[in-house]
Amino acid sequence: MTTERQSIHGQWSSRWTFILAATGAAVGLGNIWKFPYLTGEHGGSAFVLVYILCVAALGIPMMMAEVMLGRRGRETPVNTMRHLAKEIHTSPHWQLVGWAGTVAGVLILSYYSVIGGWTLAYILYSGVGTFSGASGEAVSNLFGKFVGNPIGLLAWHTAFMIITMFVVARGVKSGLEKAVQWLMPALFVLLLVLVGYAMTTGFFLKGLAFLFTPDFSRLSGSGMLAAMGQAFFSLSLGMGTIMIYGSYLPKGISIAQTSVSIAVVDTLVALMAGIAIFPIVFANGLEPGAGPSLIFETIPVAFGNMAGGTLFGTLFFVLLLIAAWTSSISLIEPAVTLLIEKYGMTRLHAAFWSGLITWALGLGTVFSFNIWSESTLFGLNFFELLDYLTSNLMLPLGGIFIAVFAGWLMTKETSKSELSMKGEVGYKIWQILIRYVAPVAVLIVLCNAIGLL
Ligand code: PFF
Repeated sequence: MTTERQSIHGQWSSRWTFILAATGAAVGLGNIWKFPYLTGEHGGSAFVLVYILCVAALGIPMMMAEVMLGRRGRETPVNTMRHLAKEIHTSPHWQLVGWAGTVAGVLILSYYSVIGGWTLAYILYSGVGTFSGASGEAVSNLFGKFVGNPIGLLAWHTAFMIITMFVVARGVKSGLEKAVQWLMPALFVLLLVLVGYAMTTGFFLKGLAFLFTPDFSRLSGSGMLAAMGQAFFSLSLGMGTIMIYGSYLPKGISIAQTSVSIAVVDTLVALMAGIAIFPIVFANGLEPGAGPSLIFETIPVAFGNMAGGTLFGTLFFVLLLIAAWTSSISLIEPAVTLLIEKYGMTRLHAAFWSGLITWALGLGTVFSFNIWSESTLFGLNFFELLDYLTSNLMLPLGGIFIAVFAGWLMTKETSKSELSMKGEVGYKIWQILIRYVAPVAVLIVLCNAIGLL
């Protein structure tokens, strides 16, 4: 019986470890680096509102669906989809969803690792007191110099890939479970310290207004797509990561409650990052739409100008690094388990080869910030193109297929017993969201953004 399958890669020790690990995968650079800069680029509050709506109406039901499929299949997403499709006598081509997700994970990690490398470098800068008393301009100049040097970026990217693959090679459980237990609370506390600093800048209310005063005139098709893509990215949905974490989940745990908790924590961390960062942006005359450099130009200024800033600033980048680390591990897990299950590799070999390919792809992103910065396709450089392709297209499209599979093809008995929700109402709401709302909303936003609507 399928329901009794066990994952060959192990199992979480409890519901709590699953929540921690899945939260560790969800909370990462997406919350602290990407959310604020996308919000800045897309005009603030309207983006935030669409983002929150997407998390609630699409993200939570999608996460439930992914965990459910993963726990039932108990294999790498490719094999999970293949087996579950067989179980309901439908096409084996459903495994393509797993393949696409696995590729998306590798593509995302290739640039994620480059930014992870930036956080490593910033631990060092911060630790030696580089930002102490620094002006916004000085910090900006330093960033410009830093990304302008391809050899330096390459070295940091390499270092980040090595630490990621080190943990991956040892298996998801050892190390990861422990790291996230203290990381989340510590990150939260430091974000509070940053919010506290933001309050002293004199621009706190301006920052809040920018984030939360609805201004629908600023809502564009591309902004909506970016907000939806970011909801998928931030919750790690549409590519099989959550499916694979679900495959390590013991039976008898409430998928609904767990998914809601993860989504809430993830969203809170992103909002706190925004609340901390925008007052600092305005206080220093920086551009909210500065792009990927945003937090690397604002956070050092904040810490550089507060008491104990060298210590707190360093700690902040250490925590950001660990948050990025726990996410990067999950990004490559589908590829690693695929190599093990399908090609019989050992975990060590699987980690080595998938890591090497990801590292090589990462060179494109390294060069996007310097020698290739002028080489563009559709007006986007290599990094921007990868990001657009994965977050805005691959993840939402993967999401549609997962929603259709879980909502329409799986039998009601199966999904109902897997989700084991207490009341009929909860299940009904999930069913409506996953069958109608999620696929239709994703399609509308996609079509709107590419000009079909
Ligand atoms: N959710 C992570 C973040 O917000 O940084 C990024 C991520 C991890 C995306 C895992 C997708 C994924 F499968």
